[in-house]
Amino acid sequence: MAGSERSENHLSESPRRELAPPVPGEGEGGVFSQSWFPVCLSVDLKPGCVVGAGFLGGRVVAFRGEGGGPARVVSAYCVHVGADLSVGEVVGERLRCRFHGWRYGGDGRCVATGIGDPVPPRARLFRFPTVERYGIVWAFNGEEPLFELPELPYPDDELVVRRSMLDEMPVEPWLVQAHTMDLQHLSLPHEFELAEDPNDSVRVGRYSVGFDLRARLRGDADFDVRVDIHGTNIFWQTGTLDGRWFFWIAPLAIPGPGRSRATFVFGARREEGEDTVAAEAFLDRAFSVMMDLFNDDTPVLGTIRFRPGLLTRSDRALDRYLQYVRDYPRANPAADFLV
Ligand code: FES
Ligand SMILES: [Fe+2]
Repeated sequence: MAGSERSENHLSESPRRELAPPVPGEGEGGVFSQSWFPVCLSVDLKPGCVVGAGFLGGRVVAFRGEGGGPARVVSAYCVHVGADLSVGEVVGERLRCRFHGWRYGGDGRCVATGIGDPVPPRARLFRFPTVERYGIVWAFNGEEPLFELPELPYPDDELVVRRSMLDEMPVEPWLVQAHTMDLQHLSLPHEFELAEDPNDSVRVGRYSVGFDLRARLRGDADFDVRVDIHGTNIFWQTGTLDGRWFFWIAPLAIPGPGRSRATFVFGARREEGEDTVAAEAFLDRAFSVMMDLFNDDTPVLGTIRFRPGLLTRSDRALDRYLQYVRDYPRANPAADFLV
């Protein structure tokens, strides 16, 4: 009797999935994570050139003066009647709209109309804080940056570096990085043999989160690295592969909600007396190890419908990360300018 009651009760329960508090999507409520985001590669922004890019669900342009000075990132649509400035041109240090010739300085202010009319006092583009580092032009989603980009421990001239920009992916940057903090997946499917539980080394700051990882990988590679995520979109890994120092940076651009675009920058320090061929051979090896891991992940990342549900002991780092993302500052001060 008791058994049949239990069974009836069981049958009458409607199945419900246990869900943790949701993580807000990028663009939800009109706001996005306040972080540094790649806009384009430095090599694609020659002196006197302008390059358009999707950003925060809208559009920006990066440009560089004819003198080859610093890169600038501003909203893409001319404040006169909205021509896309990526089809404009750079004249001296200024960006000139192709339609009626309004000119903008690097701070986004309009300095002249094409026909000589007075410049309306509020005629300005949105100027993003911009830096150029690691071969990437970065823009910060905010009036002022909340944090600086991290530094590598060695100067550029001691490094051999490669970089490439991947195609856009239908997944948000924070979700790709959730995968970084998903330490359960290091054992399955990546088959790491962990030297210790990286959940025990998790550190959480206001604008970064990370952990230390020592493991033996498939093919017997020895991996000893520090992994950090800056903002919600910048993967930052430095450490050693088979005892040799290397770094792997993978910041994700955010063209719009539900989308991201990765740039891989990886490199090593040229060792004393080492020729380029030997350094490049090491980079080939590092690349193949990392791409092996990336290829494990892409079928899942390309199809996942990520909903934080029932987490277990091995998900402690992921749990902390999800809370970090929920608390992460979001804004969109350029919203009125970008679309
Ligand atoms: S739309 Fe740019 S000057 Fe008129
Ligand atoms: Fe992975």
